[in-house]
Amino acid sequence: MFNIEKIREDFPILKREVHGKPLVYFDNGATSQTPQIVIDAIVDYYSNYNANIHRGVHTLSQEATDKYEEARIKIQKHFNAKNSYEIILTAGTTHSINIVASGYASILKKGDEILVSALEHHSNIVPWQMLCEKVGAILKVIPMENDGSLNMETYHGLLNSQTKLVFCNHVSNALGTINPIKEIIDAAHKVGAKVLVDGAQACPHIKPDVQELDVDYYVASAHKMCGPTGVGLLYGKEELLNLLPPYQGGGEMIETVTFEKTTYAGLPHKFEAGTPNICGGIAFGVAIDYMNAIGFDEIAKQEEELLAYGTKELEKIEGLKIYGTSHKTSVISFNIEGVHPYDVGTILDKLGIAVRTGHHCAQPIMDYFCIPGTIRASFAFYNTKEEIDQLVNAVKKAQMMLV
Ligand code: ALA
Repeated sequence: MFNIEKIREDFPILKREVHGKPLVYFDNGATSQTPQIVIDAIVDYYSNYNANIHRGVHTLSQEATDKYEEARIKIQKHFNAKNSYEIILTAGTTHSINIVASGYASILKKGDEILVSALEHHSNIVPWQMLCEKVGAILKVIPMENDGSLNMETYHGLLNSQTKLVFCNHVSNALGTINPIKEIIDAAHKVGAKVLVDGAQACPHIKPDVQELDVDYYVASAHKMCGPTGVGLLYGKEELLNLLPPYQGGGEMIETVTFEKTTYAGLPHKFEAGTPNICGGIAFGVAIDYMNAIGFDEIAKQEEELLAYGTKELEKIEGLKIYGTSHKTSVISFNIEGVHPYDVGTILDKLGIAVRTGHHCAQPIMDYFCIPGTIRASFAFYNTKEEIDQLVNAVKKAQMMLV
């Protein structure tokens, strides 16, 4: 049974005040809040078994190694990867994308084509532009529609035998659009292209099955899923990860080193040079357990209700425009006519409400709508309708002050 009062008790931060007002946290798209069980796991690691992993015969090192590898298996099961070594633990989504983008520099040739969706975060645009500059590949854009969806007809038309890679987010961070990634993957595979899906904004709401999707690479961050910052994953099919050269050289990613030649370790270590975020990885596993214990069906139900209610109430405000109205997660990106989003965000903060304002690292979307940015309220399963009422009242107040 989904018990919102009990769930909110799990998050100590939800009890705090901001500027003397109870915190209303609607910036979950930027980072989710952290339940006590995850905070406890972090404290437990540093209090009881802080040690480097894969390196020591001593007890602390072995305990830390076991917990870290257990976390990898939890992540594998959550995403339904075939093998645990197909899960590379990274510093987050951006790091994961850069591993793949940098790896393809030795695979792509001049004239090869890369398709990227118009809905991407800068982290899923810039690394591919850098790759194109390096190898002379051509970046083409899958255009978007006014409702925030992708123009799939154009996508199908863009695919051809020169298309080598397709990049798309599962969910848009700026608008919340849920993209038809199964259709995107299947069509790309028909022309022999590989697909990387940025799942950073999907994973807090949806449980992806990488085998069912048949996705080639899938990336996400722990801190959007009730876990800590500085840790994330790169899933890749075994043969496709093996195709990529290592991203960084260093300890732990080698098999043998001499001054004449180094041979590399197998998966996943080949991509995990240096001491990883051990505590973060372990806490990521705990966060995944926490979210699964609530259940992704329950999470989706609560968030869908919040989205429907928030949309209905905000739409009643004259001069308020919502961007992105297609099938989406619990994100409402909006503006008030004649007012800069930063000004609204500043007033909302004074009233205790945290939203993100600006271009959301997705400038091409803002350019499409010819706006400098939006006010983005992104809801999580621990938010309530009462909090939405507070947002609506605060937006009305801001409108009165600014218009
Ligand atoms: N990518 C994060 C966001 O959308 C930071 O806010």
